[in-house]
Amino acid sequence: MALDPAFLDELRARTPIAAVIGRRTKLVRSGRNWKACCPFHGEKTPSFYVYDDHFHCFGCGVHGDVISFVMQSEGRSFPEAVEELASAAGMEVPRPDRHQREAQQEARTLGDVLEAVQQAWRRRLYQNEGREGLAYLRGRGLTDETIEAFGLGWSGDGRGGLLAELAAHDITPALLAQAGLMRVDENGRPKGELFFNRVTFPIRDRRGRLVSFGGRILGDGQPKYLNGPETAIFAKRRVLFGLDRARAAVRAPRGGPDAPPRPELLVVEGYMDVIALHQAGFAGAVAPLGTALTAEQMEALWQVSSAPVLCFDGDAAGQRAAVKAAETGLPLLNVDRTLRFCVLPEGEDPDSLLRQQGGAAMSGLIEGARPLSEVLFGLLSEGVPRDPSPEQRAALRQKLVEAANLIPDRGLASEYRSTLLDRFFATFRRRPASDARGGGRQGGMHGTRPFPVPAADAHGVPVTLDAQAVTLERMRILTAILLRHPEVLEDVQDAYCRLDMPDELSGLRAVMLDMLAEEGGDRDAPALLLALEERIEAMGLSQARDRVLSSHPLPLSAQKQDGDLMSIDARQEWWHFYALLNVERFARDLRLDTERMCGGEFDEQAWESLRVRLLALEALRRGGDIPDTQ
Ligand code: UTP
Ligand code: MN
Repeated sequence: MALDPAFLDELRARTPIAAVIGRRTKLVRSGRNWKACCPFHGEKTPSFYVYDDHFHCFGCGVHGDVISFVMQSEGRSFPEAVEELASAAGMEVPRPDRHQREAQQEARTLGDVLEAVQQAWRRRLYQNEGREGLAYLRGRGLTDETIEAFGLGWSGDGRGGLLAELAAHDITPALLAQAGLMRVDENGRPKGELFFNRVTFPIRDRRGRLVSFGGRILGDGQPKYLNGPETAIFAKRRVLFGLDRARAAVRAPRGGPDAPPRPELLVVEGYMDVIALHQAGFAGAVAPLGTALTAEQMEALWQVSSAPVLCFDGDAAGQRAAVKAAETGLPLLNVDRTLRFCVLPEGEDPDSLLRQQGGAAMSGLIEGARPLSEVLFGLLSEGVPRDPSPEQRAALRQKLVEAANLIPDRGLASEYRSTLLDRFFATFRRRPASDARGGGRQGGMHGTRPFPVPAADAHGVPVTLDAQAVTLERMRILTAILLRHPEVLEDVQDAYCRLDMPDELSGLRAVMLDMLAEEGGDRDAPALLLALEERIEAMGLSQARDRVLSSHPLPLSAQKQDGDLMSIDARQEWWHFYALLNVERFARDLRLDTERMCGGEFDEQAWESLRVRLLALEALRRGGDIPDTQ
């Protein structure tokens, strides 16, 4: 229902968005605006911002105005949301005008047109002209019951019979073109039927409303499948073939304890796979329409199941498709929704597998489906040699961390990060130096270093000849700063997670990150410190903490507070030591973040973080720790 835009503007103006959102979720001031933990995805630190007239979540990307907030948060339709807000604002919703009534009418008409075509095509399959089509479908092992249940049909030969039949129902070629069933010339005039000499597959949305068709040629020929074009009621990226039936099957109430198990929601590649699977009792099968799975389709899947199983071919193309699906899915994951993956034997699709090996083989595959968190490492490290070079190691590590960082929920992202990095270190152990390739063994290089290591640095890191010890010392300092200033953690957590630290430090890090994820970033510094202390006690890590702290009894920030006029902020101090670990990486990340923000992806927090890191970099330059060349 489209309403008068002036009315909607007035409604928005009279409805303070912060008040409406504030009723559902706790808002805190952020400058002129408000922020909150996003009500649409699980998060513990606020990335959901409320402005004068709209909201935006920098975590999951939801965005909208007060009306769409009510729709999304309360599951209302547009007219319901408008009605609710209008009555709260003491306004009356005007009745739709003529133009809008026509638009509604049209949507109904396109559905009616498709239904009329569906009836004609279905009937033809059983008539003389559909003989070959019916034989083809039976030849592929479909029972008459299945053919009937999916409403498969025969398109006719395209020589005008359909047009004549539909004209009798007042359905014009122009309407058929709007419904996506006729090709049109450059002026939009209908010029011939799109589907002919094909068996037809009605495509329905999740509620079972007919939105388009697919058609398969008999035997070989190109294109093998044809799908209807995008229309007012059909968007390929939103629809999954079979979702109406799968949804009903997965959601159907179960009987007693002896009832068969709930079918798994299963994503396969083709129409015929879906149909063959349903026939074999796998009632949760669906397929996208010849494209990679889109974000919208994943959202639709998650409305039915929290962990749908995606089936991929066992070949290189299947592997690529799986990586693609993981990349699409990661930014949408949260603790309540994930993906599982299973891999078909090479050269088979579910349809051929069922026919050759039967339902048990398919069940076995589905039972063996593994969660994304488990398969992600394998997907991303595919092609990396068992014995990678430092460059390959670094590239893979970066890829793993970046993949985990795609997940908006920080707690979950940090779990993925540690799982991936654990696998990385377990799989690609650095070889001991004596085992290194090149001149190592014969060249007599043992004990000598290609580059001299500075004996000390200007920041009080203990003098040592061992570069590794210097690195370790810096990691202890980074950890010590966070133990004293857990409020810094939120800003630095991504960088901190990337450090490959020894067990004692990474144990403390895990406690800190858990604390942050669960206690949230809203709490002030003393509250965070208290929460952290409690957790450290509970985890029996007090001694580890004391060891780390005692090696740095006087953090720079405290040291400089009196005497030195320039009191160093703990955050800047943290970035300072982090930058010392690898100044090039630090500068590169800074550059990448700057570029991202120039591209428009930023919020206040991101600006602030950038500013502090720039200050740290500048201080390093001033102190002569890095050459001023960049
Ligand atoms: P496949 O080529 O894997 O076909 O296409 P299939 O499902 O195994 O089909 P059969 O068994 O030969 O009948 C998978 C899906 O890709 C889309 C269709 O949605 C198909 O179901 N596709 C394929 C097209 O859209 N156009 C094509 O020409 C081919
Ligand atoms: Mn097939």
